[in-house]
Formats: sequence, structure tokens, C-alpha cells
Amino acid sequence: MAAAMPAEANPKKEAAMKNRTILAAFAALYLVSSAAFGLDDAAREALMKKSNCFKCHSVDKKKDGPAYKEVAAKLKGKADAEQTLYTHLTTHPKVKVDGKEEEHDSLKTKDDADIKAVIAWILSR
Ligand code: HEC
Repeated sequence: MAAAMPAEANPKKEAAMKNRTILAAFAALYLVSSAAFGLDDAAREALMKKSNCFKCHSVDKKKDGPAYKEVAAKLKGKADAEQTLYTHLTTHPKVKVDGKEEEHDSLKTKDDADIKAVIAWILSR
């Protein structure tokens, strides 16, 4: 008998199903938007902190490395700006820190969208 009961005879179950559908819709939306636009600000900053990026760089002051604003200004309007930074941040190029050569840190992620989100952020300083 229970199986033949129409859905509206069990309002609790129906509400639970609706909630689940709404949750699933939000989850899908979140996945789509994070793939399309990369990391949100907090996640991008956490990734950069974890990868030591602020040890040698700041947004507007020169440290061991150039300020992100300086990098953005240098690459502004260049068609290959994004590619330049992508190569820089994925291939461990040699850079001079305090007169000594060392390998530049790469971002601690394997996710291309995350790398591109950091690059877009740097280029828009
Ligand atoms: C140990 C110090 C150090 C760390 C850590 C470091 N960088 Fe750098 N970075 C440098 C130096 C030095 C340069 C300058 C290289 C040059 O001009 O030859 C540089 C250059 C850059 C540039 C400019 C590249 C270009 O082609 O003009 C960007 C962008 C950059 N770093 C981003 C980052 C990010 C993002 C991180 C974190 C993954 C990071 N850096 C971590 C020292 C560092």
C-alpha cells in the first residue's frame, strides 16, 4: 500500500527531496562557475601563500622579486602576457635571489584553472 501512495501523501519526504534537488543545483552551479572563473579571492590567496609567492613579492613593493604591479605594468597590452607568466610559474626558471641563482617556485597545484586565476589576478594589479 505504501508504494502506491501519491507523493503529496508524504509531505516530509517530498520536502526532503526538494531540498536535495536544490542542493544539487547549487553544487552544480558552484562547479561550473569555479571552472569558468577560477578560484575565488580567498582560495587564490591561500594558494599563493601556500606556494610562498608573498615571501619574495608584494603587490606594490619590490622585495627579492618585482612587485606584482610592476609585473602587470611591464606586461600590459602584450599578447603573450598570460603565456609568459604561465611558463614562468610552471617550469621553475632560474632567477637571481640575493645574487644567487635559484629555481623559481611554481604554484602548488596541478589545476590549470587555478594557475590561470593567479595569473589573471597578477595581470590585473
Ligand atoms: C625565493 C624568492 C621567490 C619566490 C618564493 C617567488 N618568486 Fe616570483 N620572482 C622572484 C624573482 C627574483 C623574480 C625576477 C626574475 C627575473 O626578473 O629574472 C621573480 C619573478 C616573478 C614574476 C615575473 C615574471 C616575468 O616574466 O616578468 C612573477 C609573475 C612571479 N615571480 C610570481 C611569483 C609567484 C606567483 C610565486 C609563487 C608561486 C613566486 N613568484 C614565488 C623571486 C621569487
